[in-house]
Amino acid sequence: MAKILIVDDEQGMRQLLSLVFGRANHLVRAAESGRRALEMLRAEPADLIISDVKMPDLDGIEMLRAVREFLPDVAVIMMTAFATVEAAREAFKLGADDFIQKPFDIDELKLIVEKALERLHLLQENRAFKRAQRERGRLDQIIGRSPRMQAVYQMIETVAGVQSTVLITGESGTGKEMVARAVHNLSPRVDKPFMPINCGAFTETLLESELFGYVRGAFTGATANRKGLFEAADKGTIFLDEVGEMSPTMQVKLLRVLQERKVRPVGAHEELAIDTRVIAATNRDLQAMVKQGTFREDLFYRISVIPIELPPLREKTEDIADLIEHFLQKFVAQTGKTVNISEKSVELLEHYSWPGNVRELEHTIERAVALERSGTIQPESLPQQVTHYSPARIASAFDLPDEGINLTAHLEQLEKTYILEALRRTNGNQTRAAEVLHLSVRSLRHLLDKHGIRNLTAQLRSDAVGRGAAE
Ligand SMILES: Nc1ncnc2c1ncn2[C@@H]1O[C@H](COP(=O)(O)OP(=O)(O)OP(=O)(O)O)[C@@H](O)[C@H]1O
Ligand SMILES: [Mg+2]
Repeated sequence: MAKILIVDDEQGMRQLLSLVFGRANHLVRAAESGRRALEMLRAEPADLIISDVKMPDLDGIEMLRAVREFLPDVAVIMMTAFATVEAAREAFKLGADDFIQKPFDIDELKLIVEKALERLHLLQENRAFKRAQRERGRLDQIIGRSPRMQAVYQMIETVAGVQSTVLITGESGTGKEMVARAVHNLSPRVDKPFMPINCGAFTETLLESELFGYVRGAFTGATANRKGLFEAADKGTIFLDEVGEMSPTMQVKLLRVLQERKVRPVGAHEELAIDTRVIAATNRDLQAMVKQGTFREDLFYRISVIPIELPPLREKTEDIADLIEHFLQKFVAQTGKTVNISEKSVELLEHYSWPGNVRELEHTIERAVALERSGTIQPESLPQQVTHYSPARIASAFDLPDEGINLTAHLEQLEKTYILEALRRTNGNQTRAAEVLHLSVRSLRHLLDKHGIRNLTAQLRSDAVGRGAAE
């Protein structure tokens, strides 16, 4: 059922069309002039307009032009006894869906109307879908425009539509749970539960009853049946966090569930069929665990059907500024304080190695906002490990702090610091910077890409040119 407005100065035509489309169960109104039609549409919009072109006060083309201003999506069919090429062209330009010449066969007009309504329906559906997608995008709030994150977004979109098990790997705090939720939210399972469970936080027996449930009397204290998470997340998604922490016995049980798509609650005789999508995550190197024999190879292949690898923050330093901005907004909104951040502070944050990744950055900003009194986060309000982070000093002193260091992170950071220094000294001249570092230009470029600082060389060069001109 659609809302249709008929516009014609001929009373006979208005009556005929009102009758025909009223009988087809549409809500029909009629106007005797373009001017009257505009009034009626302003009071109450329509889905479709069937309008004459030649009318005394405001002709159909002029009316359509005015309508498009406030009803951009309305479907329009023009009819005229004087079908001039010019009028038709003008009507189409203004987005009329069709054009019919009087006198016409009423069945032909009915067909044209049907087609136009179908198109309108598709358009509306598409809009609603896009809006829903945008909503979800906002909910997920995954920040980062680096190429590594772009690849992650693509993977999320690809795997959202399929049923396969996904394995998300990445260091602590890289956003594994966030990505798991995004996959669920973009999947057809979005209206069903997303159930996260930390496999490392339970003893073997507890984990089993958490995952698969139990029946009354299965063990002391089991006074009633209880659903497991697999069942609770039926038609939805279960997120097995820290899957690398599962005991060998649980690994076997999980493998069976994935193979058979059935679970057996503790103490039950019958198995239950389940339709639960599994997303697993780990910050351990499962492949290495397979080699050591601590993680089952068959289970590894089962869960790693589609792997998503999240980069550590130190490998996407170009995202740090966006993340700072994002967390700043978040905590400013939470605390009601007005706080911004100095350039020097951002620079320090960009150069730190972030062993705790995005979570550590988030906590750093949270703390800085909470403690800030001046309204601007200065380096003094940042944690010592950030402000005193000097890889060169650590390397020359060979001091290994008691709490240990993240060797990979330090070496990466050290590499970047040397490259930045070489570029600064050579005003961004890559050939000379490569010489200083005893590298081939090609290797240097490779490293610039790796650290996401290739653009910097151009900037340094133009800065140098600018300085030269000023001097
Ligand atoms: N790209 C990102 N954009 C915005 N926030 C992020 C991003 N990545 C991570 N975060 C935030 O960092 C915090 C840690 O993320 P999450 O819990 O998903 O990490 P994790 O990989 O599951 O960590 P762990 O291994 O310690 O469980 C969360 O508050 C999350 O919102
Ligand atoms: Mg997590």
